Amino acid sequence: DETDKGTYPFYMLKEIDEQPNVMRKLAQEYLSDTGKPVISDDLLNDMQEADRLYIVGAGTSYHAGLVGKRLFESMTQKPTEVHISSEFAYEQPILSEKPFFIFLSQSGETADSREVLVNVNSGNYKSLTLTNVQNSTLSREATYTLLLHAGPEIAVASTKAYTAQIALEAILAKALGERDNQIVASNFDIRQQLGLVATGMQALVDEKNVIENIAKDYFLNTPNAFYIGRGLDWTVSLESALKLKEISYVQAEGFASGELKHGTIALIEEGTPVIGIITQKRTAGLTRSNLQETMARGAKTITIVASKLAKPGDTIILPDIDEHLTPLLSVVPAQLLAYYTSLNKGLDVDKPRNLAKSVTVE
Ligand code: G6P
Repeated sequence: DETDKGTYPFYMLKEIDEQPNVMRKLAQEYLSDTGKPVISDDLLNDMQEADRLYIVGAGTSYHAGLVGKRLFESMTQKPTEVHISSEFAYEQPILSEKPFFIFLSQSGETADSREVLVNVNSGNYKSLTLTNVQNSTLSREATYTLLLHAGPEIAVASTKAYTAQIALEAILAKALGERDNQIVASNFDIRQQLGLVATGMQALVDEKNVIENIAKDYFLNTPNAFYIGRGLDWTVSLESALKLKEISYVQAEGFASGELKHGTIALIEEGTPVIGIITQKRTAGLTRSNLQETMARGAKTITIVASKLAKPGDTIILPDIDEHLTPLLSVVPAQLLAYYTSLNKGLDVDKPRNLAKSVTVE
């Protein structure tokens, strides 16, 4: 039974461990034998006709959207905006002439996101929902649906839905970009890359002991922590900080590393944990200097680094994959760090205080 915890103490750990299989499952569901994306022509036509994509989501799904923007813009050259659903619903941005909406929602039931979809439908705009739940409200009410095929996600803190959303966004971006003869998309071997992602994730989840020890050393007794990075790494820093906040109650912030010096660095004290995510060649050196700046002010730093950018002394090394997909790997240690912090604090990992799995009020 898919909803059985088996020998796992908490669903969250089971769901973190399932991620390599979710990647394989998505490749199976959405790629042909030759590795071509299998996405309906109607959907791709509607997306191709659009002059701008609007991604809408809440919480972790919003964070998956931030990655999606970068994937769509890089592979399709289509301007893409990402919006927090509860903001969009009441402060609608000026829309382009031909907008296309992409809703991200694990549950398909988030009221804030649905409120946006109601407006989108009253404007007769086309939309797509990426969701884990067939026949959910956001699936039924959108023009198109693509399922995440991640299996039931039960822990309140979302893990495999985030990585499934990103992988599916990548497949979709590849399909759309290829149609428009975009070289980045044509050269992107999605099947091979998802295979590497699955193996890479497996290697990371097999390092649980190492990551548990880091969690104990750095997070058990700290009131606060910072994840920093630039570009894609910054988006993952937001998700990483959210994981830590949700289940371990450490006040964590994800921060654009270059922005730290404009105010927030004032919060760094002796022993404050600062975790740098470094997976992009173009920004690696800059994030490293920002980490140094925090170290000079007493921070205890950790690095989560792509292997090809690694230096002696780095903490967690990620197997190498295409730079577009690094969030699929860099988030895994962050999920585990949050998990083990919560576990070692004796908290209820799956059911953190004040939170619900799906929020059906605005
Ligand atoms: C709740 C959950 C979050 C989730 C958010 C959006 O707040 O606690 O983990 O990211 O809703 O949920 P959705 O089902 O729309 O992805």
